[in-house]
Amino acid sequence: MCGIFAVSGQEKNAGSVVLRGLKKLEYRGYDSWGVAIRNLSGGIEVDKEVGKISSVQHKFGSAKEAIGHTRWATHGGVTKKNAHPHKVGGVTIVHNGIFENYQVWKKKLNKNSFQSETDTEIIAGMLETSLVKKKEITKKEVAECIREVCAEIQGRFGILVMVEGVSGIFAARRGSPLILGRGKKETYIASDIPAFLEKTNTVNYLDDDEMVYIQEGKVEFSNLKTGALVKKRDIKVSWKTEEAEKGEWPHFMIKEIFDQKDTIARAINHDDKLLNKAAKLLQSANGAYFVACGTAHKVAMAAEYFFTEISGRKINVVPASEMTSFEKFVNKKTAIIAVSQSGETADVLEILERGKKRGAKILALTNVESSSIARLAHVHLPIKAGPEKAVASTKAATSQMALLFLLAFADSGQINFGRFILRSTAESINDLINPRYEERIRRVAKKIVKHPNLFIIGRKSLYPMALESAIKIQEVSYIHAQGFAAGELKHGPIALIEKGTPCLVLGGGQETVSNATELKARGAFIIGISPNRQDVFDEWLKVPDCNGAQAIATIIPVQILAYHLAVLRGLDPDMPRNLAKSVTVK
Ligand code: F6R
Repeated sequence: MCGIFAVSGQEKNAGSVVLRGLKKLEYRGYDSWGVAIRNLSGGIEVDKEVGKISSVQHKFGSAKEAIGHTRWATHGGVTKKNAHPHKVGGVTIVHNGIFENYQVWKKKLNKNSFQSETDTEIIAGMLETSLVKKKEITKKEVAECIREVCAEIQGRFGILVMVEGVSGIFAARRGSPLILGRGKKETYIASDIPAFLEKTNTVNYLDDDEMVYIQEGKVEFSNLKTGALVKKRDIKVSWKTEEAEKGEWPHFMIKEIFDQKDTIARAINHDDKLLNKAAKLLQSANGAYFVACGTAHKVAMAAEYFFTEISGRKINVVPASEMTSFEKFVNKKTAIIAVSQSGETADVLEILERGKKRGAKILALTNVESSSIARLAHVHLPIKAGPEKAVASTKAATSQMALLFLLAFADSGQINFGRFILRSTAESINDLINPRYEERIRRVAKKIVKHPNLFIIGRKSLYPMALESAIKIQEVSYIHAQGFAAGELKHGPIALIEKGTPCLVLGGGQETVSNATELKARGAFIIGISPNRQDVFDEWLKVPDCNGAQAIATIIPVQILAYHLAVLRGLDPDMPRNLAKSVTVK
């Protein structure tokens, strides 16, 4: 949520380097963009505009240092004034996060000169106020002021700061991600790796309450509370530049759907030792909870069925934002399983932090390795899906399901059997996804694209997939879509069915088919997604029979359908309105 990026180097093109990097972070927010450069005379110049950064062509003056931001609006509407960077006196700042007590400080500072409605400008104001009290302003004083100001901030932040008269860039974090990339003679700091991946894959992850100062190749990490210097280990990330690019594909979303030809097999490519360690964490617990949000939450709901059926373990599934109501049950014997693509989702992070304080054991499945959630966990299982840049989660969801399915088999002491099933699932998915299949689904999309409502039903692990299907269709096509447990329809929702209402029926089991028949009797247009054709289906999208892992295969045609519904409606499926990829605010 909001992308931030900084570079300090020897070349004089820092502005365009930051602009290019921000374009790669656009999935984190696309309400407005802005870049601040330190010109060669030392002055800081800010350019910012409302709108998506992807189409921006901007010429910057010569500069060796720059910071920039692509915004997902939280405090204050989508206006140029609210766009970052914010400059107060000699201080320029970009920020990703939420400064919860900013109103208190806005009053205290009593500056009528604040230009925006943002919380971020107040941080700039606080920094400037404490800097002007210093006798001289050098790197040491700036670092001191940042420490003082950050001590006052309640909430989550990742900030990048440039100060007139002091070369170099300062960054600090608590709760929002910041990653440093080490180039040869230049250094980058970003909220996500794709911003600088084409330049370097050697990174250092900032932890909470850490700060870093960069100037060209010089890097100095310190503790944000004490100022003590901190040593960091260089880490080589395995993501490849091509994986983070859309290449010939029209959108990231369809590229990432097709990536599932490989990613499912990759997700289960873990050694038994790690899987058994994760299974042990569950076995030694007395009570377990999945916590996750959105699509990852629907994945966890599917996994609840996997564990019930495969290893006979009951795991509670709670949306992370609701988990505080159940915290009284969390103790030293509890296992909390976090499922998160980004590994940065604020609602999940908060529950894990609180759970850890109560002694719970944390197991995390994330795609972004070394994300905050991954680092907080006692055991971490990476899902290895590669960068997922479309806002709508597709390949991460199927990788999470595959890995959780395998974990359920590890829990029952039958890893090899689980792997066998998943390998054949991965192979049949590889066969399934091809341009002909996509075209078949596009034609179905054309038939239903004009309908304002769409319903989806499924049973067992296909029930959460009905909920997930609704999320996919709503978020990219803006068509109202709702998922139900198939057996629940006749308890109310069936009243919504009219002549021609499109209904997706996930699965071809007898009971589901009966429910489809009930819908058809009320005039519904039935699109069946199942291994076998059924008479009740008006359209049939075939999926392979996956022996218990059916949820993984079944969601893929829905992802393709959602994509084409969006494209047919003239929308950009990669950047749906009001959304951002990584939700780092509560
Ligand atoms: C929907 C979607 C979101 C995320 C949710 C959690 O397509 O992507 O619902 O699943 O915001 O994000 P992560 O998995 O990063 O914790």
